Amino acid sequence: MKIAIASDHGGFELKQHIMALLTELGHEYTDFGCYSTDSMDYPDVAFPAAEAVARNEYERGILICGTGIGVSICANKVRGVRCALCGDVLSAELTRQHNDSNVLAMGGRIIGVETAKAIVRTWLGTEFLGGRHERRIAKISDHEL
Ligand code: RB5
Repeated sequence: MKIAIASDHGGFELKQHIMALLTELGHEYTDFGCYSTDSMDYPDVAFPAAEAVARNEYERGILICGTGIGVSICANKVRGVRCALCGDVLSAELTRQHNDSNVLAMGGRIIGVETAKAIVRTWLGTEFLGGRHERRIAKISDHEL
């Protein structure tokens, strides 16, 4: 799978672990930044990564900031993006099954590395269930201007 990944300084360290995991799992990724722990503004990396997913240049996106909240707010303003902020494995599974989320957000200052890795493995490995959930997602798309 081709994945767009990005973080701010608050998610930089966790992003290194997640990129190593993606390599281990055989996924291709592009790191949209940031590239150091210097303080920066998360919208500057969250929007380009989310927009690349919306253009279908990447199948999925993974965004990390301190809480995961800022990057998820950005991503969900991009048409075609359904971003899920996850702090547990069950949410990661259900958001793929029910919401067909194409972007995952996590908080580098909120969850531990092993939890984050388990979330990513589950989120990447779970299929959308379709059916009644298609109708609900269509209602979200209909609302996008
Ligand atoms: C940066 O200090 C912090 O505000 C950011 O990483 C994120 O948590 C925002 O939602």
